[in-house]
Parts: sequence; C-alpha cells; structure tokens
Amino acid sequence: MMQIREETPTDGPVIAELVHLALGTRATDSPAARMRAGMRPVAGLCLVAANGTGAVVGTLRFWPVRIGGVPALQLGPLAVRPERRGEGFGKALLRAGLELARGAGHRIVVLIGDPAYYRPFGFETALSLGIRLPTSFDEARLQVLALTPGALAGVSGVVGPAAGDRRPTR
Ligand SMILES: CC(C)(COP(=O)(O)OP(=O)(O)OC[C@H]1O[C@@H](n2cnc3c(N)ncnc32)[C@H](O)[C@@H]1OP(=O)(O)O)[C@@H](O)C(=O)NCCC(=O)NCCS
Repeated sequence: MMQIREETPTDGPVIAELVHLALGTRATDSPAARMRAGMRPVAGLCLVAANGTGAVVGTLRFWPVRIGGVPALQLGPLAVRPERRGEGFGKALLRAGLELARGAGHRIVVLIGDPAYYRPFGFETALSLGIRLPTSFDEARLQVLALTPGALAGVSGVVGPAAGDRRPTR
C-alpha cells in the first residue's frame, strides 16, 4: 500500500538520508542545488511517500525560483529508496505534487532531470523557449511545465534564486 502525505519536520532526517542515497554530493553541489541556494522548500507542497507500514520511502520538494524575474517553482529532489524503485512511488509523488502546486495557484514548474521521465507529465525542453541556467552545465536537462494555459508565454531568461526570496535556511 502507498500513502502520499505532506512532509512534517520529523521527516527531515529520513528525507536527508534518502536524498543523499539518491544523489550523493549532487544534492548540494549541482546546478539544481545552486538554483535554490539560500531558499527554504515551499511549505504545504513538499510531500513524502510512505509504504504500508508508514515508513518514508520517497520525497519530493518544491522551491521558489525566478525565471528572468518571473516567479516559478523548482521541482526536486525527487528521490525514492533504491530498493523500492519501479513500484510507482516516484510518479505518484509527481502527480500529487503538481496537482497541489496547481491548486495553490502556482503557474510554472522548472526542473533539471531526465526528459524521458518527466515528458509524460507535460514538461518540455526549456532551452528551446529561451529559458537557461547560469552555466551551460546540465542545461540540456532543464525542463519546464506551464501549470495553467499560457503561463510560459513571454517567459525567458536565466533561472535562479531571487535575492528578495532568500530566507535563512533551517
Ligand atoms: C527517478 C526516481 C525518483 C523514480 O522513482 P520510481 O519510484 O522508481 O519511479 P516509478 O516507479 O514511478 O516509475 C518507474 C518508471 O520510470 C522509469 N524511470 C526511472 N528513472 C528514469 C529515468 N531517469 N529516466 C527515464 N525513465 C526513468 C522506469 O524505467 C520505470 O518505467 P516503467 O514504468 O515503464 O517500468 C528514482 O529512480 C530515483 O530516486 N532515482 C535517483 C534520484 C534521481 O535521479 N532523481 C530524479 C532527479 S531528476
């Protein structure tokens, strides 16, 4: 059995372990990590997946970013325990997270990841829209999704944290 629920502060250590297992040093040293530097995840949108006994086996977070000055959400990390992959936890987290974000009135989601995994959810290549990272590293994996029709119209430029959104990290 699978349960998707909002993360709570007590999930913090398990989430950190999951992210470390899935991404290693990329969790803190990567273009995706730099995109959200100095930010806190968006309260109410960060989810965990739990198995039948309630143990957390997957995590998904969203972060406030800007695309050329326009507010957007960065999706990630999405991580599932290695021994529980291929059971649908990742896609269930994605589906639930995107629905929550849309319901909360967010308009754009951006991520760095494998296009084959995210394309079925409507993500498209960001580069062809003129949306870029500050460096060319990993830029081909940059993808965006309009949560509402037309949300990406006229949006282009560099993705990154906006100074005004920065808050002290926990
Ligand atoms: C990516 C990840 C979250 C997927 O979680 P999951 O629970 O195994 O995913 P699901 O069970 O919902 O989906 C599995 C399907 O996705 C496919 N898939 C998994 N990773 C993929 C990838 N990187 N690219 C393309 N397809 C992928 C599987 O082949 C499988 O396909 P099938 O349904 O046709 O058999 C998990 O593999 C993980 O934690 N990876 C390490 C961290 C990572 O790379 N995170 C993503 C950062 S962008």
